[in-house]
Amino acid sequence: MAFKELLQKELSGKIPKERLELLPSGYQQIENITIIKLKPELQKFKKEIAKKIMEIFPYVKTVMQIKQINGKFRQPKIEFLLGAKNFLVNYRENNCIFQFDVRKIMWSKGNRSERERIAKLPAEGEIIMDFFAGIGYWTVPILKAGKAKKVIAFEHNPEAVKWLKKNLELNKIKPEKYEIIPGETEKETMKFPKASADRILMGLIPAPKFALGAALHCIKNNGIIHYEGTAVEGKPEELFKDVQEACEKAKCKADLLNAQIVKDYAPKIVHYTLDIKILK
Ligand SMILES: C[S@@+](CC[C@H](N)C(=O)[O-])C[C@H]1O[C@@H](n2cnc3c(N)ncnc32)[C@H](O)[C@@H]1O
Repeated sequence: MAFKELLQKELSGKIPKERLELLPSGYQQIENITIIKLKPELQKFKKEIAKKIMEIFPYVKTVMQIKQINGKFRQPKIEFLLGAKNFLVNYRENNCIFQFDVRKIMWSKGNRSERERIAKLPAEGEIIMDFFAGIGYWTVPILKAGKAKKVIAFEHNPEAVKWLKKNLELNKIKPEKYEIIPGETEKETMKFPKASADRILMGLIPAPKFALGAALHCIKNNGIIHYEGTAVEGKPEELFKDVQEACEKAKCKADLLNAQIVKDYAPKIVHYTLDIKILK
């Protein structure tokens, strides 16, 4: 039975009938922590709902609710509802371990296949720039795969930088294999000489159009940019236009090699990563 139906069945009689319809259909599970999003009409019943989740799923030790993802650092606003007050997770994926505080860091399970794909790229001997490194979602698996020469990771959120450092250490990545640059990527990257990177990862939603000038400054001739964003399913060219326009300004050319669907984003809208070769 689906999550929502199960909750509706178990909470019937405890929550007014018309509000049962408003129960969430999905949830985020990170280790034994369940994170739900509740509509305003259900706030009065939040503890009741959390209690029921812990009863239905005995492996759930903590229930929290996400209220919104805010501000420049897209920090989640997470409220503890019930269970153990243990917010530190050691999430294992793709032969890597990621440690972070669920109250302060966002984790998208839906991006898992993309993290795996990026880690398997033919990156032998490459200098890679991870423009929006977060806690090491891509930097860690790429370095763990062992092909890249070096990853230069940019990140402006000090909380994410703290976990990025920690995760590189936890995954036993040698310090000479990476450089962490705190601050605004679009400014920090411009301090690097032209054509410093073989490959650039631009993993940010909405599409980081604002950093395309910097990416074209840093990328080598024949280098690859992985540009993320959303577009109507089957129409990645809408997103590719951003790169073509930036290339026109920078007097270079873009060749779309592959449009990878990462996950559904909204009705008929998908999250894409475009693999783009830049010819200078
Ligand atoms: C959500 S993460 C990337 C997720 C990743 N692509 C994945 O597969 O899960 C994006 C990161 O970019 C950082 N960020 C956003 N804008 C930035 C900027 N202008 N300069 C530096 N970091 C930035 C955010 O703080 C966040 O940690």
